[in-house]
Amino acid sequence: MAELDDLVRAAREARGRAIAPYSRFKVGAALETDDGVVVTGCNIENATFGLTTCAERVALFKALSEGHRGFRRVVVVADTRSPTPPCGPCRQLLWEYAGDAEVVLANTTEVCATYRMSDLLPLPFDQHNIDEDPGAVRKG
Ligand code: THU
Repeated sequence: MAELDDLVRAAREARGRAIAPYSRFKVGAALETDDGVVVTGCNIENATFGLTTCAERVALFKALSEGHRGFRRVVVVADTRSPTPPCGPCRQLLWEYAGDAEVVLANTTEVCATYRMSDLLPLPFDQHNIDEDPGAVRKG
């Protein structure tokens, strides 16, 4: 298991790589797999604005694309006094791929708050709902 300090440091370093020329709001994320591997992400913006990808999703997609499955913790870092939580779409994806993982919110100097995904997304839609519909397409 990675030390929380190491995860926070990794998320802060990732934040330093954020590409956020439009919002200037830089975010870093560090995702810990069940095996203790740490995968980082930063937000990446572009000229259309709408194609922006959040730090959490970059970390998650990097990890999934590298073959990792099962995640226990994610640290999100922004330069804000109050904690910056994952946005709605990131909560959906984190729930589906990381389940009830721990979500640690930090800024550039301190750890601000810790939640569980079930706190942040209390009534989630996921594969279980689809499985309850006898007519729906079954997951391969
Ligand atoms: N952003 C993240 O990367 N993660 C969050 O949890 C909140 C928002 C990014 C998206 C965009 O690049 C910028 O922050 C402003 O919304």
